[in-house]
Amino acid sequence: MSALRLEPLSTHDAEAYWRLYISGRSDLPSTSLTDHLDRYLALSPEEQRTHFAFLRGDAIVGTVRIEIGAAESPGANLYGFAMGPEHVSLTKDAIVRAVDAAFARGASSITSSFDERYEAAFAAAGFRRWFARMRMEAPIRTGPVESAVLLKPPEEPEVALLTRLFMDVYEGHMEQAFGIHVGPEEEWRGYVTGIFKGDAGRYLPSASFVGLEGKRIVGALLATHWMGCPLVADLGVSKEWRRRGLGEALLRSSMNRLADLGEKRFALYTTLGNDPAISLYRRLGFEQAGAQTVTARLQM
Ligand SMILES: CC(C)(COP(=O)(O)OP(=O)(O)OC[C@H]1O[C@@H](n2cnc3c(N)ncnc32)[C@H](O)[C@@H]1OP(=O)(O)O)[C@@H](O)C(=O)NCCC(=O)NCCS
Repeated sequence: MSALRLEPLSTHDAEAYWRLYISGRSDLPSTSLTDHLDRYLALSPEEQRTHFAFLRGDAIVGTVRIEIGAAESPGANLYGFAMGPEHVSLTKDAIVRAVDAAFARGASSITSSFDERYEAAFAAAGFRRWFARMRMEAPIRTGPVESAVLLKPPEEPEVALLTRLFMDVYEGHMEQAFGIHVGPEEEWRGYVTGIFKGDAGRYLPSASFVGLEGKRIVGALLATHWMGCPLVADLGVSKEWRRRGLGEALLRSSMNRLADLGEKRFALYTTLGNDPAISLYRRLGFEQAGAQTVTARLQM
């Protein structure tokens, strides 16, 4: 029996690679091979080179991405991990190989995100859970919207106001302990502009809304179309406006517009423990879709 090897993905193997990846994960937004292939082929050559295949003989039996950080903070990110259903017995061996490869490239710590089905194997290799995220989906339902403030689609010149809103919304938020929704104003501006430009999928201007108190934005929902489904790219309500129905009004307004566009489902990602958001989502019919994506860490 031939041993497991870890090799850079060569583009002519991309189809087999993504087919295997889809078969080994249940936390994916889409199981369409075309969606995954198209995303991969649109990456820069440098990003494509972060993809590695686990091979047995000539057959791809697993997938992983390995990204090494800058020299001054040589942490590695290990993600995109999957094993083909017939090769799960090789999971621990595969993780050890990926970890060795990351350390051999100079990493001193590794952060990995993976489908929860692989958690026991990652734990056996020394990884400890840091946090987990889940996808939630709801059927689109229409209905009346009650809002104490004016709701209207955001406009591009409002990037500065939206940046300030989201910085305020996430200040002290539980996700910041996990390095999510952090950073200086410039990064936040890049984040908001990036949503408009397509970083989180095709921006949906007519299904996105801001809540205005006078000229001030006090809440916003930015919607995109990503991997075959409308997505809440971000939703936030300023602290002094919380628990007054604005989050719900933003979501309901967006759902009404998506229904007009003929959409059937609405999706989003949230961090486990973000209880206010999860309560709101459940109230509007969102339920967990697929497995959790766990993020875990390993120190050398
Ligand atoms: C999540 C968030 C948008 C909710 O906005 P909001 O305007 O306060 O929500 P609403 O007033 O419309 O709440 C509607 C319902 O959601 C649930 N809910 C909202 N906040 C809650 C909380 N803190 N605790 C428990 N349930 C809550 C309740 O069922 C609530 O109805 P009720 O007030 O009649 O009990 C807001 O807390 C926020 O901006 N959080 C930080 C950003 C964030 O986490 N965004 C989600 C990204 S995935």
